[in-house]
Amino acid sequence: MNLKLRVWRQTGPSDKGRMVTYDVTDISPDASFLEMLDVLNERLILAGEEPIAFDHDCREGICGMCGMMINGVAHGPARATTTCQLHMRHFQDGETIDVEPWRAAAFPVVKDLVVDRGAFDRIIQGGGYISAPTGAAPDAHATPVPKADADAAFEAATCIGCGACVAACPNGSAMLFTAAKVGHLGLLPQGQPERDTRVVGMLEAHDEAGFGGCTNTGECTTVCPKGIPLTLIGRLNADYRKAVTKR
Ligand code: SF4
Ligand code: FES
Repeated sequence: MNLKLRVWRQTGPSDKGRMVTYDVTDISPDASFLEMLDVLNERLILAGEEPIAFDHDCREGICGMCGMMINGVAHGPARATTTCQLHMRHFQDGETIDVEPWRAAAFPVVKDLVVDRGAFDRIIQGGGYISAPTGAAPDAHATPVPKADADAAFEAATCIGCGACVAACPNGSAMLFTAAKVGHLGLLPQGQPERDTRVVGMLEAHDEAGFGGCTNTGECTTVCPKGIPLTLIGRLNADYRKAVTKR
């Protein structure tokens, strides 16, 4: 495949940034999007130019490091797919593809396609610790968990913290991410002792980080590579109301 790439280049946080056009040739349709960027970067390095900075780690859809706006869509055109798992066969030969970093006030651009997602860490920290004892693994039957709760908690726990939900949201809200994190512990017996302090702490950290509020637009769940459902935001709101009423 031969492609024209228009890539956001920004040397650092204080640089204004701009789109730069590159021709990329002889790309296998079976290459991943990141492998296509690797090929481009090798050519840039051989030509003595600065390679494009982008985040990645596992390249198998589980770490949440990769992520970029591809033709204006977080993680690109394939549903429930991270950028590292997106393959070039989803594009047309000769296509022009725009590649930009996540755009959100709480995710400042570090360089090129790399953004600082430290605000997600602060939301996690805002939730504090759980008091479930550590040590030897308890008997699997010691704490019965209803199947429906176990499944819902597992679904929430599949959030990989990629940030696509924030980038897609017109309000720059991280409510889907926060709802997933609140939900995966709040649905289990082990998460009950700190359930109230956790939801309040996480939402305070969410707002302090500069994320916007949720207006139920639903863009977040549409681009989420793990299919985290909007219903978890409803659950988060209910949990929050209960926690502040008790307080
Ligand atoms: S909720 Fe989905 S889109 Fe948002 S951080 Fe988690 S996995 Fe990524
Ligand atoms: S590099 Fe780990 S999810 Fe894409």
